[in-house]
Amino acid sequence: MCGIIGYTGHRPAVPVLVEGLRRLEYRGYDSAGVAYVQNGEMSVLRAEGKLASLEEKVAGVSHHLATTGIGHTRWATHGVPVERNAHPHVDNSGRLAMIHNGIIENFEEQREWLKERGYHFNSDTDSEVLVNLISEGMKADRSLPEAISWALGRVEGAYAIVVLDCTDPERLYAARHASPMVFGKGVGENFVASDIPAFLPYTREVIFLDDDELVELTPSSWRVMDVKTLEPVEKTIDHINWDVQAAQKGGYKHFMLKEIFEQPKVITDCFAGRINMQDMSVQLPELESLAAPKRLHILACGTSYHAGMWGKYLIESWARIPVSVEIASEFRYRDLILDEDDVVLSISQSGETADTLAGMRRAKEFGATIIGLCNVVGSSVAREADHVLYTQAGPEISVASTKAMCSQLVLLYLLAMHWGRQKKTLPDDVRDNAVKSILALPTVLETELPRLRTRATELSRLYSASHSFMYLGRGFQFPLALEGALKLKEISYIHAEGYASGEMKHGPIALIDPEFPTFALALHDELFLKVKSNLEEVQARGGRIIALTHPGLDLNVTDPWIIPELWGPLDSFMALSCLQLFAYEVADYLGKDVDQPRNLAKSVTVE
Ligand code: AGP
Repeated sequence: MCGIIGYTGHRPAVPVLVEGLRRLEYRGYDSAGVAYVQNGEMSVLRAEGKLASLEEKVAGVSHHLATTGIGHTRWATHGVPVERNAHPHVDNSGRLAMIHNGIIENFEEQREWLKERGYHFNSDTDSEVLVNLISEGMKADRSLPEAISWALGRVEGAYAIVVLDCTDPERLYAARHASPMVFGKGVGENFVASDIPAFLPYTREVIFLDDDELVELTPSSWRVMDVKTLEPVEKTIDHINWDVQAAQKGGYKHFMLKEIFEQPKVITDCFAGRINMQDMSVQLPELESLAAPKRLHILACGTSYHAGMWGKYLIESWARIPVSVEIASEFRYRDLILDEDDVVLSISQSGETADTLAGMRRAKEFGATIIGLCNVVGSSVAREADHVLYTQAGPEISVASTKAMCSQLVLLYLLAMHWGRQKKTLPDDVRDNAVKSILALPTVLETELPRLRTRATELSRLYSASHSFMYLGRGFQFPLALEGALKLKEISYIHAEGYASGEMKHGPIALIDPEFPTFALALHDELFLKVKSNLEEVQARGGRIIALTHPGLDLNVTDPWIIPELWGPLDSFMALSCLQLFAYEVADYLGKDVDQPRNLAKSVTVE
């Protein structure tokens, strides 16, 4: 998830671009760049790190004559966040500059094809391949829009691109497929961007581009075409009433809520290019050189630790690999028993959590192989691991982790299938079901989320006055119960305990009374009846119960929350959204600062 902007008009373009990138920094902030045409010359300025580094470069050159340009703020997916991987990328001829948001899944193949035709590459990115493909397309006497159409016909994956041609400086071309793109119609100027905040101070007249549409912009005109046929497409202009803050949150009240509703797309982005539909197999090229581990140690903190616990159940079941899940702040000081046959999987959204890093370094001292599973490209965990798997969830702004955990579960699901295939322990029918079901999950979740939020809101009104909460689950739902309790604690400040249901009678049941409600995960699986009897023990002590459950199950509790039944481990994704939404609605109802809870930081980089 990067931020892109294009401008053509009467103002000096570069200040408009830089300001626009500032308002898009929530989409990506590890490097940035602009390109503009001045006196017929293409100029490109790029910088690693926060936007301020680019502003320093921009301040050092004169660009006031340029009235057309493109800008990009990056969230790395392919290629670590360094200057040479920053956008815009220029084709080998120097004529075209392009910015890109998305992932080209078959870029390696296209790069080899271009290399055979004499192209060279200065970066590790999929985007530089695309701008050179467009350039190659122009060789066959195609116009620029025809070349863009031809090149996009050769790639698979998601893209939102803007192309600037220094021989035609006032004209911009932009196209999208499965990546957001909107353009703003001004007076004597036009804007295009990945999101509305970029140009909101200049115009509120916007046109949303749909998938496979290409737009041509000049200061005084715009036309939209079908990217394949270049036939014209009618578009309507919408008027936006939001302020910039609201627009950055996409109209949601908080980034946390926005990120919960982003989960269907995050699931798609996470398995993009990793599932081969021909043989229903999972492709994790990052691990091709690694044999399935004899023993696996999952190392993490907080929400990532809960994801690891969930992964343990699946990896042990599908790949028959013994898994221990370690709290990193304990693991790093323990008298470890590890050797070169051990594999350590470090899970971290930020990739900068001090305890997880220290645990990794200790494991390395024993010769263990380290796999980093993280969201931030180029982060310390990624750099220090022997192998890296990226969750591709995009930047997570809210301190309370939601979509990152969802993407961690997707990658652990794919990892269990990958090792299950390597070890031939995953039956074909389970594999086929696993592939079909996860491919269908984004659409199901997208449809259900609004309904889940309605029920979460209802229940939050009934339970926000509680001082304590017990969360219960068994099997896959035990780590989710821990996560539900953590979410409620960290954003609503209500005391909450997550427990394995079977542990209740060994002590915690003493806490149960009408003032101490229980949130139970009672889904339709082989442990349902066990959970049901635990809930009867709670009810017998006057405890009020919210129970997440499936249609047709005989469960008599205070407040059932019935959700659609999916398949096996995938029920956890729907359940996770419910737990996140309930905590969110309680915290919002109590007027808490949901995105920036007290005493918490997004990444815990100190001990
Ligand atoms: C979760 O909402 C919290 N922000 C926190 O528990 C977090 O999961 C933990 O600090 C680990 O962070 P990481 O995934 O970036 O390593």
